[in-house]
Amino acid sequence: MKMSELVKQGKEVFINNYKQFPIVFERGEGAYLFDIEGKKYLDFVSGIAVNALGYSDMELNQALKNQLDQLTHCSNLYYNKPSIDAAEKLINGSGLDKVFFCNSGAEANEAALKLSRKYAKKNFGDDKFEIITMKNSFHGRTIATITATGQEKYQKGLSPLLPGIKYCEYNNLEALKSTITKNTCAVLLEIIQGEGGIITINPDYLKAVRKLCDENNFVLIFDEVQTGIGRTGELFAYQLFDVKPDILSLAKGLGAGIPIGAIVVNSKVAEGFEPGDHAATFGGNPLACTATNVVLDKLLKGGLLHKVKEQGKYLNEKLVELMNKKDNIIDVRGFGLMQGIALENEDIPSIISNCMKEGLLLVGAGSNVIRFVPPLIISKNEIDNAIAILDKWL
Ligand SMILES: Cc1ncc(COP(=O)(O)O)c(C=O)c1O
Repeated sequence: MKMSELVKQGKEVFINNYKQFPIVFERGEGAYLFDIEGKKYLDFVSGIAVNALGYSDMELNQALKNQLDQLTHCSNLYYNKPSIDAAEKLINGSGLDKVFFCNSGAEANEAALKLSRKYAKKNFGDDKFEIITMKNSFHGRTIATITATGQEKYQKGLSPLLPGIKYCEYNNLEALKSTITKNTCAVLLEIIQGEGGIITINPDYLKAVRKLCDENNFVLIFDEVQTGIGRTGELFAYQLFDVKPDILSLAKGLGAGIPIGAIVVNSKVAEGFEPGDHAATFGGNPLACTATNVVLDKLLKGGLLHKVKEQGKYLNEKLVELMNKKDNIIDVRGFGLMQGIALENEDIPSIISNCMKEGLLLVGAGSNVIRFVPPLIISKNEIDNAIAILDKWL
């Protein structure tokens, strides 16, 4: 079937909630995707920071095939080994103590919000329910997480939103202090505001937020759904700084394309949940956890994390070189393989679509940023090729 016919059929069968490009992908290999007409695309989107190992990773595929023949689901009425192994790796890698598995970033944040309230109410009283989140943040699309998302454009037409969420300016300690009330129980933030436009956190601010939370018994939640699992060159982006969250939320790269989310929590806050307080039918299923085990092994034992640091530095240098050549690039920012260029007076969608015609996939972020989140296996040569295509259209 021709691509245009499939796109037409897709438009007929799907609810109209996505703005989709008229491309139908069929397969992937390494850092490349191929559409059904055989056209090859260099992928600097990786399923929006999901396909950490690129496409057709042999070890991942083999492990999944083996697990398919063993067991894919048995519910949380029982234990399974892949989930215990994956949890142990997340605990060892994070310095936190306990794990809950779910299926997506929104679900991970939903769990984090619920656990914060449960923990706070149990320990400090029923009036401790207010959660402070940041303006320009993004935390997911459920009613709770879209309320936590500090961007009105995503909340239109959904009122009434969840009560008990307050917003304050990111990277502004005074704003945070003045948002605190007697009801505050938790603070939620991203180490890099990804969807918000690759806005990086100020390290001193982050440390001060940790101190403030400690002094007031607030639960500090880091949403590392996009920044976690090696994306920034550390297993978790907070490890770039000398801080630790009480709750860490994860998804995207955690399954390298197989849907899985998680929260990783210190033992004090984990006690907020008792049996029956929270659940996810598919959470911790052995198939998804097998993917997590492969990703974490490759990052931590296979040298991939080290490679991300090296390639991230290279990507950043190349983008800075491009900025020095082009007047319309006003900023280059990010950590590791999560970088963005901010542009002035440019039509970002048309730059992205021109690059796509030439076989390079890019995605925007915020109102004026092009984001670079390639698979973590990207090579220097592929970075050079991407920059060369982008160079033509800026
Ligand atoms: C920081 C952050 N949190 C949460 C989410 C929501 O994740 P999901 O789409 O898996 O629910 C995203 C998705 O882009 C994200 O970037």
